[in-house]
Amino acid sequence: MVSRGEGAWLETDKGRLLDAISSWWVITHGHRHPRIIEAIKRQADELDQVIFAGFTHQPAEDLARALIGIAPRRLSHVFYSDSGSTSVEVALKMALGFWKNQNKPRTRIIALEHAYHGDTVGTMSAGARGVYNAAYDPLLFDVVRLPFPSPGNEQQTLDMLKTAAKDAAALLVEPLILGAGGMLIYPPEVLRALATICRRNGALLIADEVMTGFGRTGTLFACKQAGISPDILCLAKGLTGGSLPLAATLCTAEIFDAHYSTDRSHTFFHSSSFTANPIACAAARANLEIWRDEPVAERIAALGALQEERLARFRTDQRFENVRRLGTITALDLKVSDPGYLAGVTLELTRFFQARGLLLRPLGNTLYVMPPYCITAGELDLVYDGIAEAGQKFA
Ligand SMILES: Cc1ncc(COP(=O)(O)O)c(C=O)c1O
Repeated sequence: MVSRGEGAWLETDKGRLLDAISSWWVITHGHRHPRIIEAIKRQADELDQVIFAGFTHQPAEDLARALIGIAPRRLSHVFYSDSGSTSVEVALKMALGFWKNQNKPRTRIIALEHAYHGDTVGTMSAGARGVYNAAYDPLLFDVVRLPFPSPGNEQQTLDMLKTAAKDAAALLVEPLILGAGGMLIYPPEVLRALATICRRNGALLIADEVMTGFGRTGTLFACKQAGISPDILCLAKGLTGGSLPLAATLCTAEIFDAHYSTDRSHTFFHSSSFTANPIACAAARANLEIWRDEPVAERIAALGALQEERLARFRTDQRFENVRRLGTITALDLKVSDPGYLAGVTLELTRFFQARGLLLRPLGNTLYVMPPYCITAGELDLVYDGIAEAGQKFA
């Protein structure tokens, strides 16, 4: 039972917990950043909620303008929804509508092996299949699945895309790191090559930056490291600094124009009650002001360095393998006899960490640390001492 959050800490009925996974990767600057909380309070006094069909409001307008200002070039339009899943669902619908409205028969989606894009039917279809969606399989549509570009296998992935992209609607990717799939990292050159193949073959590129956005990979957006600009960009989690649910799907003028018509059948049909909730938009606007005014980039670089230092002792520890880092995220695999998402130790590990005051939630035998950017060196030591102890107990 959690009663309070402050910086990197949560207060529970059983004591304090260090939030080393940013409460499912959403909290960026820390719990209850004063500027975000102040913005929420101010907006709550003005306008709580209003229909966003045929109406707009200042927080949504300001936020859209600010997002366009920081997003990769070519992205010029913003569509709001309320979760990472819906931001990707919207992206898939935009891609299909783009082709349908031009009478071009491109309907297939290409996605990566091990991908995770959410838990709606469309995003489950694009994501990896497994125990978590087997029951819903009859509802899911087929996608073209590219092998994950693991070291040495990149060419295979690119070759498959070359064939698939010729008549596909879009390639959907998590840029540089697959999160729920096990914190699997691939290099910017591969992302750039994927983008180039899409462009040459006319397929749209959808970047799902729901997890990677807002600094996690060391830059504001992961796409920046590959120097690419996708046709569609999905944002959620860190958009409000993690304080309130809000998502945005950004797209190019071409995609907007394909839907902008007096022919009602060309409309982009997607609406939900809380689209662009004013309080959530105000929180996101405050988040972007923090990025503008505070040395967040420096903070992220420093956190990356601290994380790297703490990984060093595990690189030679026989109980762990695949010790890795991207920006502020680290991950390492505990050697167990039954590796994978359903590894027997998972729940035990979570309980073990919790008993030590740490909120860590391994993905199977993969331990990862994705802390809020305010975490200190001393707090990181607590996390990694816990991980070392887990190695002694469970490997
Ligand atoms: C890459 C990615 N896309 C989409 C989602 C779904 O986001 P939400 O849980 O907000 O629906 C997640 C959630 O972890 C994610 O990591």
